[in-house]
Amino acid sequence: MSTVVLDNVTKVYPGGYLAVDRMSLRADEGELLVLLGPSGCGKSTLLRMIAGLEEITNGDLWLGGKLANHLAPRDRDVAMVFQNGALYPHRTVRGNLSFPLEIAKADPNLVRERVVELSRALHIDETLDRRPGTLSGGQRQRVAMGRAIVRQPSIFLMDEPLSNLDAGMRTELRMEISSLVRALGVTTIYVTHDQIEALTLADRIAIMNRGVLQDIGSPAQVYNDPATAFTAAFLSSQQLNLLSATVRTPQNQYILLDFGPHQITMPWTDPRAYAVSQHTGSQIIVGIRPDALAPMPEKAEAPSFFGRVRTLEYHGHEWLAYVEVGIPAVTVPEPPDPTQRNGHVNGTNGTASKAKSMVRRLLSGSSSESAAAATPPPLPGTLGGHRRADLIVRLGARPYWRAGEHARVAVDVSRLMLFTQTGARIDPPRR
Ligand SMILES: Nc1ncnc2c1ncn2[C@@H]1O[C@H](COP(=O)(O)OP(=O)(O)OP(=O)(O)O)[C@@H](O)[C@H]1O
Ligand SMILES: [Mg+2]
Repeated sequence: MSTVVLDNVTKVYPGGYLAVDRMSLRADEGELLVLLGPSGCGKSTLLRMIAGLEEITNGDLWLGGKLANHLAPRDRDVAMVFQNGALYPHRTVRGNLSFPLEIAKADPNLVRERVVELSRALHIDETLDRRPGTLSGGQRQRVAMGRAIVRQPSIFLMDEPLSNLDAGMRTELRMEISSLVRALGVTTIYVTHDQIEALTLADRIAIMNRGVLQDIGSPAQVYNDPATAFTAAFLSSQQLNLLSATVRTPQNQYILLDFGPHQITMPWTDPRAYAVSQHTGSQIIVGIRPDALAPMPEKAEAPSFFGRVRTLEYHGHEWLAYVEVGIPAVTVPEPPDPTQRNGHVNGTNGTASKAKSMVRRLLSGSSSESAAAATPPPLPGTLGGHRRADLIVRLGARPYWRAGEHARVAVDVSRLMLFTQTGARIDPPRR
């Protein structure tokens, strides 16, 4: 049993900084769970609480079904690889790899065998007699991983192990980590702020912002069906178009998304129509990925925006167009600033019974926990004053338009992502 369950885990640092705010999630036996979020959102803090290197202020941590809040780090059967991959400088690679086993007083023959076997798997068998100072960054990181995993821990924690490496080395090691942890079947929590790393490595991704869980699901679920505007924006390879619209239902005939100078209709047959109609008369946020937009021939009829091409950008494999459409720009809704919400973290928020039912659900193996459960209300996305949004359109290998030209932009209505002003999905994501 090596599941990891966090139940409403909160961390307030001395001085009052709320780094992790009531996080609930579960990593299953043998699962590779990636924690993804921007710098400073609390990823390392969370990992260090699981390792026992940081005290939990509130909430419960369960490791392999046992309450672990107060277990000493060495009793947790957890190994951690740190961002900087610190090694013992005066020991050889062999010495670094064998050290955890020597401490555990393992049979020397077994130690020798295991170190050689592991060094082959990590492609560092030719460096066994060298000291860390003579290794490349990639080799050092492989040794750090080997040293963490040599004891065969039940749970493997990795904190941005690839962030100091160049792009080629990152790709290579990423694939190796994936096959290594899957071959070993160790429950792994892997921290990164790189969305490509998360999408390529994870069984499931948990996305955090400002200490709050935003979304959790398989890479395809969180990418295609994000629970929040933050997730949608953070996982977009090109900048996500976020636009403000008012929902109207003229004579109840269809749904009209009113962007001011532009209107897009959505038929009642659309699976999201009922959920959107509940917001009639209100402003919502519409997210559109640049590849859900395309140039439209002059005479064609389809849901579309129109405007002037402000600029074209060449990205090597494709062109992007920035089209002025006269719609106010919206910023991504954020959870409140941690310094503004450290008043309600002392367990006085009356969520005890909710917490109990959640932990029962988590422990029973259901992964249907809601990302938004027990989080404070986020701030609404703000309209960017007089700032107008450019629609970013993916054009492919040919630029299609010229700068300054009038453009009509067709939109794939089925791919519009609809959020409330606080950034929660209007039509519930399928999990
Ligand atoms: N010992 C500490 N005392 C006070 N505040 C801290 C402490 N350690 C971290 N913090 C703060 O907590 C927040 C979360 O930090 P954390 O290191 O968990 O972020 P992170 O998501 O790992 O960021 P990065 O991607 O940059 O490593 C940050 O604002 C950080 O400044
Ligand atoms: Mg960190």
